[in-house]
Amino acid sequence: MKILFLNGPNLNLLGTREPDKYGTLTLDNIQTFVGQEADKLNVEVDFYQTNIEGELVDKIQQAKGKYDGIVINPAAYTHTSVAIRDAILAVEIPAVEIHLSNIQKREEFRTISLTAPACIGQIAGFGAFSYKLGLIAIVDYIKSLEQD
Ligand code: DQA
Repeated sequence: MKILFLNGPNLNLLGTREPDKYGTLTLDNIQTFVGQEADKLNVEVDFYQTNIEGELVDKIQQAKGKYDGIVINPAAYTHTSVAIRDAILAVEIPAVEIHLSNIQKREEFRTISLTAPACIGQIAGFGAFSYKLGLIAIVDYIKSLEQD
């Protein structure tokens, strides 16, 4: 099983970016943490970060036929991107949306996700652990499809 982790804008700054909201782990640290869980679950994981909306759309399109699932933190594009939502719907690859912070507890504009309705579900508010939970959730979902 192959899972693609996609990370949107400013997540390359994790570690120093607003640590009170996003924690002190870097994206590399999180990737290592997710990799350890992936090994336990016996799944392959690829990680990608970009600040550019269209590159996220390209990655989602290119995932068709290569990945069984997507775990995505669209970052600020969560609240604005019809293009990412449409790309997830278009490829029909199961996706889980994740956030480090609890977006329901923050500014009102962050409580709206345009991308979550294209996903199986959303995990938010658990810091780096949201990434691990996202992996567990997508793997469990894909396995349940295989049993049908
Ligand atoms: C975020 C929440 C978004 O509102 C914000 O724009 C981010 C990070 C999170 O992981 O908590 O960049 O996606």
